[in-house]
Amino acid sequence: MTQPSIKAVIPAAGLGTRFLPATKAMPKEMLPVVDKPAIQYVVEEAVAAGIDDVLVIIGRNKNALANHFDRVTELEHTLEQKGDHGKLARVMEASSLADVHFVRQGDPKGLGHAVLRARKHVGHETFAVMLGDDLIDARDPLLSRMIEVSLAQSATVVALMEVDPSQIHLYGCADVDTTADSDVVRIKALVEKPKAEDAPSNLAIIGRYVLKPEIFDVLEHTEPGKGGEIQLTDALEELAEDESIAGPVLGVIFSGRRYDTGDRLEYLKSSLLLALDRDDLGPALTSWLKELTPTLD
Ligand code: UTP
Repeated sequence: MTQPSIKAVIPAAGLGTRFLPATKAMPKEMLPVVDKPAIQYVVEEAVAAGIDDVLVIIGRNKNALANHFDRVTELEHTLEQKGDHGKLARVMEASSLADVHFVRQGDPKGLGHAVLRARKHVGHETFAVMLGDDLIDARDPLLSRMIEVSLAQSATVVALMEVDPSQIHLYGCADVDTTADSDVVRIKALVEKPKAEDAPSNLAIIGRYVLKPEIFDVLEHTEPGKGGEIQLTDALEELAEDESIAGPVLGVIFSGRRYDTGDRLEYLKSSLLLALDRDDLGPALTSWLKELTPTLD
């Protein structure tokens, strides 16, 4: 069970340039995956790990995000009058999941800068950071394991996943030592988006972190790194290099299902896979795919 004081921070203030023009007036975290915006899956994951307080870091397109987690009384009223209780429940789901708060990141100066905006809300407690475009399948719990490891060892914990070496340049990469737990490694160093030939491993950082409040002091002086952005990975690298700051930096190796909805091709695959698993859509989609496949070359 999670300590009640753990809060989740979801940075959703990025520019989402890979998805333009869809993200011109809407954050990529609001793109629908089947019939829910990506961020709602992430809030549901936080709730499943025992978290009931979520802070979303918002950017220039804040309204869609804030509205989604708010009540929409006219719509609720109309559905109630029509007696459509199924849809009514679906509309109300997002506003009753957790206590959702919002803080603005004025300029998108990087993920590290976005996390720093959470300082006041988080205070002096361990907290989770969950990237809003990275979905973890609800059947393969990850965050609860990361929280357990962090609390047991008073450690900063990042989620790692093995990727093909040709893909490592898209991620932060970890240089690690094994520990007594087969799914936990000790992180010696981190490199943001290395070339394949410079990568210390094929272990990529994916979008889940359990951080200790000491990270904020480190982020205060972290200089812009790759891409001119204040990188969370650079702050974590400083913690890994000097364990006297906040204890060890550990990695929990995830081998379950993850969907990267910030990338167009991965987004399409994710929507398809999640729809195939649904009772209401799966059978019809499967027959259509079977019909379609022989026609593809
Ligand atoms: P990405 O690098 O994937 O986001 O940031 P991006 O810049 O929005 O996307 P592209 O590459 O241009 O398509 C990882 C996460 O950090 C958030 C993003 O919203 C995303 O969830 N982020 C990034 C911020 O909140 N603020 C920032 O300044 C940068």
